[in-house]
Amino acid sequence: MKIFKLLFALFMLASITSCKDRRTPKVEYMPDMYVSIPYDADDAEGLNGNPVNSKPVAGTISRGGHPSYDIPDTADGYDKAKAELKNPLADSEKNLENGKKMYEIYCISCHGKKGDGNGYLSQVEKFEGIPSYKDRDINAGSIYHVIMHGKNLMGSHSSQLTYNERWQIIHYVEKLRADL
Ligand code: HEC
Repeated sequence: MKIFKLLFALFMLASITSCKDRRTPKVEYMPDMYVSIPYDADDAEGLNGNPVNSKPVAGTISRGGHPSYDIPDTADGYDKAKAELKNPLADSEKNLENGKKMYEIYCISCHGKKGDGNGYLSQVEKFEGIPSYKDRDINAGSIYHVIMHGKNLMGSHSSQLTYNERWQIIHYVEKLRADL
């Protein structure tokens, strides 16, 4: 009986200490779950040799999605956005609050806490010509356009922000502008 106990103890010891060895690769069960196979949607071979229809049909909008922004980065485009785009989100506490949060991440470094153009990057003269919002004749549509395309030294912020976050920031920028 003793020998069994001893063998059992040795077995447990071996199985515990063997876990310590991090250099040898572990057994992967179902490796597809770790490393997915990147099927190419444009490739007619696709899954199992059949075409994969995973691209949205042109002109359609996914459920819960938003139309892509197709107003061009031109002076006419700017005027069009300014004349036509309206903020689809309510000027609510919640939207303003999240707008402020996003503004303080993405815009404050240049435009400053109050929107007067006196952010840190302006103070250290890293960026010049950052305007006070008060001095610009802007509205929700033009601000959206500038977030999407940027303007001169200001780059586009379209990829950092979701559709809703952009419009929430716009509510906040308009509030800052009114308070200046
Ligand atoms: C790297 C610095 C920088 C950051 C970050 C930045 N801006 Fe700007 N922004 C500028 C500069 C510079 C201008 C002046 C562009 C011009 O008119 O030449 C400007 C101009 C603007 C204008 C006025 C455009 C007009 O139509 O006259 C708005 C509105 C604006 N920014 C909003 C934002 C918002 C919203 C964010 C954050 C999502 C942001 N900016 C982030 C540098 C910045």
